Amino acid sequence: MNGLYGKNFLKLLDFSKEEIEEFLRIAALLKQYKKKGVPHALAQGKNIALIFEKTSTRTRCAFEVAAADLGMHAVYLDPKSSQIGKKESLPDTAKVLGRMFDAIEYRGFGQEIVEDIARYSGVPTYNGLTNEFHPTQILADFMTIKEKFGSLEDISLCYYGDARYNMGNSLMVGAAKMGMRFTACCPEKYRPDPALVSVCEELAKKSGGEIRFETDPEKGSVGANAVYTDVWVSMGEPQEVWKERIDDLSPYRVTKSVMQNAAKGAVFMHCLPSFHDLGTEIGREIYEKFGLPEMEVSDEVFMSDASVVFDEAENRLHTIKAVIAATLSDGV
Ligand code: CP
Ligand code: NVA
Repeated sequence: MNGLYGKNFLKLLDFSKEEIEEFLRIAALLKQYKKKGVPHALAQGKNIALIFEKTSTRTRCAFEVAAADLGMHAVYLDPKSSQIGKKESLPDTAKVLGRMFDAIEYRGFGQEIVEDIARYSGVPTYNGLTNEFHPTQILADFMTIKEKFGSLEDISLCYYGDARYNMGNSLMVGAAKMGMRFTACCPEKYRPDPALVSVCEELAKKSGGEIRFETDPEKGSVGANAVYTDVWVSMGEPQEVWKERIDDLSPYRVTKSVMQNAAKGAVFMHCLPSFHDLGTEIGREIYEKFGLPEMEVSDEVFMSDASVVFDEAENRLHTIKAVIAATLSDGV
């Protein structure tokens, strides 16, 4: 039986470097199977509940397609069409779902919610994004880095923007686990929680990684193999924070000059969705209000050859499938 069988996937802090490598190995194998048309119904007949309290394109589609490819049935629950939280408490809901499903995915707010679902349901539970962490995204990002550079070791990754939220936190944890150099390039108040930084510094000492902070946007990406950014305002945050974020984070937009300062062959990464042009409703609203035609990344960088954002998006499927397969089937 593989060591990941029956486990939850709630945050990368719960896994060793070797276990994360194992998820990535399985993802690469399943990607090959998918490309070659090799059937891989490794969880035939099992059922997964997908709870989304926030919207999604990639994560929902990746879970649904992964489930179908693995021979499973997926049930999608949005916050409006279920009783969750309104007529039924979370522990009761989790207990009910645990009686019917072999696994549960949750996207929503506090990390404690997904941890509680795991506790009360008793079945493997997967974090599809919380305010604090987005661990399935990191697997896809690391798979993409491995595809581009061959390995994660010696990779230097610089994150620009709000490093206090799910993406900054999770990339820092992932880098610390895997022995990478992680830099958060942001104003001081946008650095991750000091307690999490301390944990990551300890992990980095053991793995040979490094955690750094830089406030100068011209210096952050120097020597970086991967330059990463995310939206300045995350799902669930109030609209009122836009002005402050624009004021504080505009100097940290990933531009051509940021990429030119990076190492030769550096890639641009983003979890998506991204505000890089006026092709979205929110993008147009911000433009009308604040006159910004692009936000966290310039359209030029987003569309450049260095951009691997759609590889990351595709790899969401293969890595999420690996998480389900590894935890529900001992045959991978
Ligand atoms: N990157 C990501 O999680 O995308 P979705 O919000 O579309 O799922
Ligand atoms: N920080 C973003 C990530 C989206 C994938 C959010 O939480 O909205």
